[in-house]
Amino acid sequence: MTDTEIKKGLAGVVVDTTAISKVNPESNSLLYRGYPVQELAASQPFEAVAYLLWHGELPTAEQLASFEAMERSLRSLDPRTFALLDTIPSDAHPMDIVRTVVSQLGTFDETLHRPGGWTDRELDLGRSAYLFAQLPTVVAAVQRRRRGQEPIPPRDDLDYARNFLWMTFGELPSDAAVDVFRVSMVLYAEHSFNASTFTARVIASTTSDLYSAVVGAIGALKGPLHGGANEAVMHIFDEIGSADEVGAWLDRALAEKRKIMGFGHRVYKHGDSRVPTMDRALRVLLDESGDTGLAGLYETLEREFVARKGIYPNLDYPSGPAYRLLGFDTEIFTPLFIAARVTGWTAHVMEQAASNALIRPLSAYDGVDERHVPGA
Ligand code: SDX
Repeated sequence: MTDTEIKKGLAGVVVDTTAISKVNPESNSLLYRGYPVQELAASQPFEAVAYLLWHGELPTAEQLASFEAMERSLRSLDPRTFALLDTIPSDAHPMDIVRTVVSQLGTFDETLHRPGGWTDRELDLGRSAYLFAQLPTVVAAVQRRRRGQEPIPPRDDLDYARNFLWMTFGELPSDAAVDVFRVSMVLYAEHSFNASTFTARVIASTTSDLYSAVVGAIGALKGPLHGGANEAVMHIFDEIGSADEVGAWLDRALAEKRKIMGFGHRVYKHGDSRVPTMDRALRVLLDESGDTGLAGLYETLEREFVARKGIYPNLDYPSGPAYRLLGFDTEIFTPLFIAARVTGWTAHVMEQAASNALIRPLSAYDGVDERHVPGA
């Protein structure tokens, strides 16, 4: 096999089809089941977007009401999950805690142990809705535990976004905060064969179970080159300190060949289609907060880095400061990404399971030549 046939990182390689989303770098667009993500972010509750990704159609009013009622009934955590949380060191990274809890949630599912149950679409739809409903309660409890606060039970009179903020902060959020949070979840929900989604598909392709696929996806998302970037953006902001420090900081960072978190993308090379929508949502919070320091730092770093390297921001760049302004701990940012992306991951798990195609690429050997054990 010649070197030219090796595509490191599978860059530019089309490995399968999907009907779930279309990422188009030429037109800088993203469609979820044919709908532009900007239109969904401007008009749909996150519950409707989850339904769309799983079922391929936006729900009717009746279907949405029925789905919302089911989702709200699935929000409360099993006491065994609180017991598990109590065994995990309080300074463990929230990504590791959430990964561990999702693994436990899989052990509660008795249908998993029924022969043939692990690939049944109807069962997987139920499992997907279960994780969708459980993750906000888990993430909110992890955030409060880090602060030495008791968890707050979910409320079934609040929609997904408002309840998530209620459980996290213990006060009813403003409509503006709810809308910004909702927009971020819609934008984070799905993005074709990104590293964590492809991980989930590889696991699903062996006819393993949906929970195992989501646990693997969480492991992939944690990396700063992928989902961990939204947390890393804020660590960079905290490191730089203020807008007038950006130039000197960039000089040093680029001299050290550091990757500047929140910038660049494997597919989009002229800007991430989701950034303008998230940027507008962030500015609502920046205006409301009056935090001109953060606004200046956010604008200056983007302007300086784009001018120097011609590499554009990705969704994690505006999302980081938005989550900071909403009040989340920095280490909770990527778990928020989990709560959103679990919809895309599970849609892909079901699509892959229906295709019955084991994912198993080839490798080109470049180790030592064959040799033999002396005397063997
Ligand atoms: C997400 O795939 C998805 O869709 C992911 C995602 C989703 O919704 O699922 O969109 C979410 O993961 C967004 C990306 C978040 N990650 C970051 O913000 C981390 C910083 N970004 C980079 O690590 C990088 O841009 C990647 C990993 C995102 C993409 O890298 P590629 O496509 O492998 O490109 P590359 O690393 O080969 O970069 C090409 C050149 C290199 O320079 P040279 O070595 O050729 O001289 O551009 C440089 C890179 O060094 N470069 C950067 C850079 N991004 C690219 N240099 C500094 N800082 C950066 N951020």
